[in-house]
Amino acid sequence: MAKRTLYCGEVRKENEGQKITLKGWVNNRRDHGGVIFIDLRDRKGLMQVVISPAHASAEIMAQAEKLRSEFVIEVTGIIDLREVANPKLETGEVELTLEEMTVLAKSKTPPFEIRDGVEVSEDLRMKHRYLDLRRPEMLANLTLRHTVTKTIRTYLDGLEFVDVETPMLAKSTPEGARDYLVPSRVNKGEFYALPQSPQLFKQILMASGFDRYYQIVKCFRDEDLRGDRQPEFTQVDMETSFLSEEEIQTIVEGLLSAVMKETKGVELTLPLPRMTWNDAMNFYGSDKPDTRFEMKLSDLTDLAHATDFKVFNSAPAVKAVVARNLANQYTRKDLDKLTDYAKQFGAKGLAYIKIENGEFTGPVGKFLTSIQEQVVSRLALHDNDLVFFVADTLSVANNTLGAIRLEVAKRFELIDTSKFNFLWVVDWPMFEWSDEEGRYMSAHHPFTLPTAATRGELPSGDLSKVRAHAYDIVLNGYELGGGSLRIHTRALQEDMLTALGFKLEDAKEQFGFLLDALEYGFPPHGGLAIGLDRFVMLLAGKDNIREVIAFPKNKRAADIMTQAPSRVSQKQLDELMLKHNFPQDPHPLPQD
Ligand code: AMO
Ligand code: AMP
Repeated sequence: MAKRTLYCGEVRKENEGQKITLKGWVNNRRDHGGVIFIDLRDRKGLMQVVISPAHASAEIMAQAEKLRSEFVIEVTGIIDLREVANPKLETGEVELTLEEMTVLAKSKTPPFEIRDGVEVSEDLRMKHRYLDLRRPEMLANLTLRHTVTKTIRTYLDGLEFVDVETPMLAKSTPEGARDYLVPSRVNKGEFYALPQSPQLFKQILMASGFDRYYQIVKCFRDEDLRGDRQPEFTQVDMETSFLSEEEIQTIVEGLLSAVMKETKGVELTLPLPRMTWNDAMNFYGSDKPDTRFEMKLSDLTDLAHATDFKVFNSAPAVKAVVARNLANQYTRKDLDKLTDYAKQFGAKGLAYIKIENGEFTGPVGKFLTSIQEQVVSRLALHDNDLVFFVADTLSVANNTLGAIRLEVAKRFELIDTSKFNFLWVVDWPMFEWSDEEGRYMSAHHPFTLPTAATRGELPSGDLSKVRAHAYDIVLNGYELGGGSLRIHTRALQEDMLTALGFKLEDAKEQFGFLLDALEYGFPPHGGLAIGLDRFVMLLAGKDNIREVIAFPKNKRAADIMTQAPSRVSQKQLDELMLKHNFPQDPHPLPQD
């Protein structure tokens, strides 16, 4: 085998006249009456190869006849300028006139074409992920991911962060999702939990005096999957000692800024904007507001209470959002659909009015006549505006209209997708009420430090009043990362656990080591974790993290290529002392 001179995608007109060797995959083959043209592909791009009887032997010509897509070949020849350049290719000014060729591997006809934008089911792509990853777009996504992690490592190294690995066979950490469990063979009947995050280990590292820790680390959460969620995903996990909330945020801003510059050539304006959690909820109806477009929510509770409309005057909150100049775009059917959508967020209905010739129309228009003037002025309404209302608890009204806001913006492309809008959401409530559990849960996690001013409500006061030293970094409507200052004394940590309804014995059993460590000179500390997959997804302009993960799981948490998860032998089960009563066919191939 000859040595490769260049990657296919690297050849330029400066190489004219040189004899070079390339290796790669046959992207396509065209036969122009005895002269064969091949686009040869490798990770850097495509290069045209010309095989003609004028330069190649009869034997090579015969081999070239048999070349098919995805054959792997090695070619040697002279670089010539093309008669007609192809401006679409970076190598479009040159071609390789073939003298020698070796077929290194043959290929069956692939089940889909290896090119960007190919329309093929995701299952098929995942089944043959090795082919899918050959597509330039996938190569680019994973290379981008590499650039992001490399930039992050360099940046954090410059600030003297130490990369420490923490165990994967670990103990449950209460991040709020279900654990993935691993049975122990040696300790019969006992289980490890794969970490939902290295939260407790990184806190312990602060107790040990590492002062600045980071890790680019896999986390595991058995939760319902969405486009931005995978059962195993990667965090850029960080922890520091002795820093304030603002100091930690400044370090993170530097990191984001380094990545934006390296990958997008974008200079972020620092400091990044900060929005309180209250404002985020009240104006955007979301704790991860997409600020690339306006369309803020308005509070009309006071006016609504002055009407005779029962739905409005009896609700704790009435909020509204205006779809400007879009009234004529919504049919009755569209509005019915949107109402059904609103109900998914707990709303009992979605009231709306259209402004037509200065009048309120639509089913509830007539109920609002008495407040028409104030509504017009508060919402700055004009003809052809469409106003949506939700009357409910403040949280249902905000959440629902937040979702409607996004839905309208998506449908009418109100979002400037060239923007990267980062912002901090700060001043979080410590707890959020869970209807499902019938109790308060941590909005972040139980190790978050409550503010000094509101700590007095622990453990048994009004938990809705407790605020947290917590912060989320949001990018374009996605929660990119989250962090907080942490509790560093045992007494406060125990108060927190009591407030959350933990029995102290259970807490000791689950993370007694942390409680113990809190009694041995534990420094004030805090940190944050960024979802690396989400960050790369947004940088790549995708809306699914599967596009930036080499071997992701599908919606049913399965890997179609390797067919994981799968059954194991009876011997393995016996060794683990696992009894089972599995259904007959445990893994029918996922159909979605
Ligand atoms: P949190 O649970 O907010 O914080 O997670 C941090 C970030 O990780 C990403 N993320 C996910 N990405 C893909 N798939 C998932 N299933 C998934 N779950 C979370 C998000 C999220 O913002 N230990 C704390 C951090 C800290 O307090 O320092 C933690 O894990 O982008
Ligand atoms: P109804 O009086 O129940 O027929 O509702 C009249 C209109 O108000 C319908 O368009 C409903 O979708 C809407 N509606 C009902 N309940 C609410 C609510 N809680 N908030 C906003 N709109 C509602």
